[in-house]
Amino acid sequence: KQTNILVVGSINMDLIVYGVPKIPKFGESIACGSYHYATGGKGANQAYAAALQGANVSMVGRIGDDTNGHTIEMELKKVGIDTTFVVTDQEAQTGLAPIMVDEEGKYFSLTVLGANNHLIADDVMKAIAAKDYDMVLMQLEMPLETVYRTYEIAKENNIPVFLDAGPAMNIPLDRLKGIYIISPNEAETEALTGISIDSEEQAFKAAKQLYKRVNPKFVILKMGSRGAYVYDGIEGKMYASFKVDAVDSTGAGDTFNATLAIKLCQGYPMEMSIKSAQAAAAICVSRNGAQSSIPDAEEVQVFLNEINRSANL
Ligand code: RIB
Repeated sequence: KQTNILVVGSINMDLIVYGVPKIPKFGESIACGSYHYATGGKGANQAYAAALQGANVSMVGRIGDDTNGHTIEMELKKVGIDTTFVVTDQEAQTGLAPIMVDEEGKYFSLTVLGANNHLIADDVMKAIAAKDYDMVLMQLEMPLETVYRTYEIAKENNIPVFLDAGPAMNIPLDRLKGIYIISPNEAETEALTGISIDSEEQAFKAAKQLYKRVNPKFVILKMGSRGAYVYDGIEGKMYASFKVDAVDSTGAGDTFNATLAIKLCQGYPMEMSIKSAQAAAAICVSRNGAQSSIPDAEEVQVFLNEINRSANL
């Protein structure tokens, strides 16, 4: 089925530094391996991944009137994303995210939100008035009031909302009650619940707490190389990740959530949708960059076929 998705969220230029041996202290300079610029931003990454999964995607976001902003908008258009509701802000620069990646592909990042911080509910309202959508995807790299208003506007229009709870912040969740899915990663779960999810038991505890506070259809915890934990208010289930050689995990969570959202919108059951999302994320971590590493639906299918073939040997 053709799926119409609205992504509300951040658009950044990523400056990715590879071969980072350790996190520096203030006043310390550390020599690293190499760097490159890549288009990113949690919102734009999700829009990109959703488009590569075959969805009709519209994006609401803000860029500055600068080279980085124009470059990213062009990249989004190239994969068919409707950028009518991406506003060029004259007052702020395009968001920038310096990202440090270690030898195992793990990363930490800083984010200068820039124009993302000017995203307002009115931008969202215009996009929602323009089309019918099957789902809204959003994250937290924008003003909190815009996060809450996006949910409220979508709800008034009967559109389910999938919240990727990144970056890690301890935000009040009351105004998000009844959201379709809330999906934090390990650090984000800890920020929201105070629980470090280093085991299935801890994941159950954190998921239960989030469920009680948000009352969503599903809590989906992204536990990196361990897998994904899905809780529906009755039971929790752990889905182990596919093992790959990780190079750079930037954008893997965004790829996971967007792929999952599209599969669910297409009517696939949760288990199959999670598998596709995990396959997409596994491919993403095996390559450099955020958007540059996101696979399309065909590549995800080939990956899953290969896994099934090896399992049947
Ligand atoms: O989720 C990864 C993204 O987070 C990066 O692309 C970076 O821009 C930050 O927003």
